[in-house]
Amino acid sequence: MKPIPCHLTPVREPASWSPASWQERPQRQQPAYEDATELSEVLEQLRELPPLVTSWEIFSLKRLLADAADGKRFLLQGGDCAETFDDCTSPLISNRLKVMLQMSLVLVHGLQMPVVRVGRFAGQYAKPRSADLETRDGVSLPSYRGDLVNRCEFSAAARRPDPRRLLTGHARSAMTMNFVRALIDGGFADLHHPEYWDFAWVEHSPLQEEYRRTVEAIGASLRFMETLAGKSIGSYQRVDFYTSHEALVLHYEQALTRQVPRQWGWFNLSTHFPWIGMRTAQLDGAHVEYFRGIRNPVAVKVGPEVTPDQLLALADVLDPDRDPGRLTFIHRMGAARIEAALPPLLAAVRSAGRKPVWVCDPMHGNTETLGSGIKTRRFSTVRDELERAFDIHAAAGTRLGGVHLELTGENVTECLGGARHLVEADLSRAYKSTVDPRLNYEQSLELAMLIVKKRGAG
Ligand code: PEP
Ligand code: CO
Repeated sequence: MKPIPCHLTPVREPASWSPASWQERPQRQQPAYEDATELSEVLEQLRELPPLVTSWEIFSLKRLLADAADGKRFLLQGGDCAETFDDCTSPLISNRLKVMLQMSLVLVHGLQMPVVRVGRFAGQYAKPRSADLETRDGVSLPSYRGDLVNRCEFSAAARRPDPRRLLTGHARSAMTMNFVRALIDGGFADLHHPEYWDFAWVEHSPLQEEYRRTVEAIGASLRFMETLAGKSIGSYQRVDFYTSHEALVLHYEQALTRQVPRQWGWFNLSTHFPWIGMRTAQLDGAHVEYFRGIRNPVAVKVGPEVTPDQLLALADVLDPDRDPGRLTFIHRMGAARIEAALPPLLAAVRSAGRKPVWVCDPMHGNTETLGSGIKTRRFSTVRDELERAFDIHAAAGTRLGGVHLELTGENVTECLGGARHLVEADLSRAYKSTVDPRLNYEQSLELAMLIVKKRGAG
């Protein structure tokens, strides 16, 4: 009998798994809730609330990710390091969507390839921390773990992990999702009028002329398509947008893990595309156990300490059937370490005959703390890691299928450099992140243009 090609292999229900089986495994980065009864009451409510996404959306994203693994599509995944409940406002949500859509147009145009857009939002409310406690002036309190768990303010009341925040997190995610869906269905009119693109920064860039030509060409193509179709792009072709978050607080994820009619198995219906963070990707840990049983496409952050054997073992557990689009590896090595750390991983995965989506996160390996105590990232270092990633994949015979960025649509001043050459003294002007520094609107668009330039040249 001819072997079944791997894309036709039937995927199976995972053995001895349940949405709660993670509770038998070592758990990291989980909130220490004080009151078990309060937690279980909240979880009972959460289990009854409607999901945020549907299984058919999840399947369609998985097909798009399979294309990205095949080099036929590019993944743009981006958003805040951590959303906050207060940031659930109309301008913040629409500006973030706008910068992602504008970046994706730059990429579609420049790469001549469809782009799959995935936001780090509508649920990116939980953060892993390096220490359980934070000490200030001799006072130790639980670390801030994101708005899903506690509040950032340094007081005992604010830092107490509060299960009711799980309900607020679900509600804010739903509001965000609802607004994003409405904007997208309405065609998000700003998009196809280049006059609404804020391009003042281009004047500060040495690539000024090149950027202007790109913006004009995108505007001209959109107008041409609209003339051809006799209607606006928004109604002519609905852009797809998907959501993702780090699935960190497993009680929350479990409560939104559901069965759906006419499908076997379980889906995490809190988001389309959950990922496992670097700090919780242990093979025998609770997160990997939870992720192996859900049918969503899943991603894992891969840092420089991971060995080829560990990566292959993770792939075997998370994607035993080599299901196209199921598995994404997001490497986040740091510009200084990527040359040494990435090639052995690519070689091992390639020779195992696996084809995950490879995505570069050029942010998390390049965070630095300045003398003033401010956390920042340099645009030049972020760019450097990304450019090296393209070259390393090309040399390994693999393909960089996407990027994972921390960005915002606001003009914050959190990362140094970029066309406007932000310097240390600028950072205090508009530093808003409660966790990691994000690329601002201008830096994000500039990075999209640099990706195109790199890919065009490569
Ligand atoms: C993050 O994406 O915000 C994060 C914490 O990343 P990592 O797990 O790669 O450190
Ligand atoms: Co971050």
